[in-house]
Amino acid sequence: MKRIVNPDLMLGDQILDSFVFVSHLLLLDRTSLLTHIAYKYMKSQEEQWLLTEKYQGEKSEAFYADCKALALGTPLGYLIGHVPFLDCTIYLDNQPLIPRVETEFWVEKAIAAIKMGSVMQPSLDSGAAQPPRVLDVCAGSSCIGVAVAKAIPAAKVDFGELSKRLLPTIEKNINENVANPERCRVVHSNLFQQFPIDWKYDYILSNPPYIDPAIDRATESVKSHEPHLALYGGTDGLEVIEQLTASAGTYLTANGQLWIEHEPEQVPGMAKLAEQYGFSCVSHPDQYGVLRYSILVLQ
Ligand SMILES: C[S@@+](CC[C@H](N)C(=O)[O-])C[C@H]1O[C@@H](n2cnc3c(N)ncnc32)[C@H](O)[C@@H]1O
Repeated sequence: MKRIVNPDLMLGDQILDSFVFVSHLLLLDRTSLLTHIAYKYMKSQEEQWLLTEKYQGEKSEAFYADCKALALGTPLGYLIGHVPFLDCTIYLDNQPLIPRVETEFWVEKAIAAIKMGSVMQPSLDSGAAQPPRVLDVCAGSSCIGVAVAKAIPAAKVDFGELSKRLLPTIEKNINENVANPERCRVVHSNLFQQFPIDWKYDYILSNPPYIDPAIDRATESVKSHEPHLALYGGTDGLEVIEQLTASAGTYLTANGQLWIEHEPEQVPGMAKLAEQYGFSCVSHPDQYGVLRYSILVLQ
């Protein structure tokens, strides 16, 4: 009897056989080998980006030095010096936390909500739309506020950041991305401490430090290169989030919204804090289905 053979399956089998053979030679199990190959592929992709983005395709000595740093764990964003974030180019001078795609995901939703809110809540006095007032607190590179300011030219956007060395980075990102930088103010502050009490916001957006040291998923590269002040949030990862939630009400307008990024394990903690400080709270998934941010509305 003649066997009908699917050539694609045959090829798949041959590849699998080769994996097993190479695994034996390298004394690795199949998963380790696949992980190793994926890692090598990712690194070669990163080298390619580095070459085109920073060196315009020229393999200079500096390029090879950067490849070495990349292989030793320096994040690609720091080597190139900037990353894309929504429609913006975010410069990473002085090495702030590198903006994450999970943050990009919810900031896009926040921008849509702010645009919609401006249409739905015209000024009571004149009937004209009020420019939305937005604060990016724990601003780091300033990717959140800069993306809002760029997407909503009428918005007034303020930035708060504790790390003094990042203030010029924030200014640079505003100037490089925002059409009217005079709509933005940058404040060196521990959360709201340096914010005048009469500065009010319709939206406060924050990606604070929230890693719980007891559930630390950060890779070695992140731990050894990105600022720990940006990563760790104290007990349960909720210490900065609690201080932020406790004070935000003072700076929000009626029905103002506080958007906070966090870990999925912190969802019950977020609900508790919201109730304690007079907010409603709904938690939402990111693009990977992980409950990654909560929207708290002042009641
Ligand atoms: C997780 S990073 C987020 C940076 C940026 N918003 C982003 O999404 O990429 C947190 C930032 O908060 C700053 N930070 C930490 N504690 C702070 C505090 N008490 N007040 C203001 N900023 C703080 C850190 O220096 C860091 O830049």
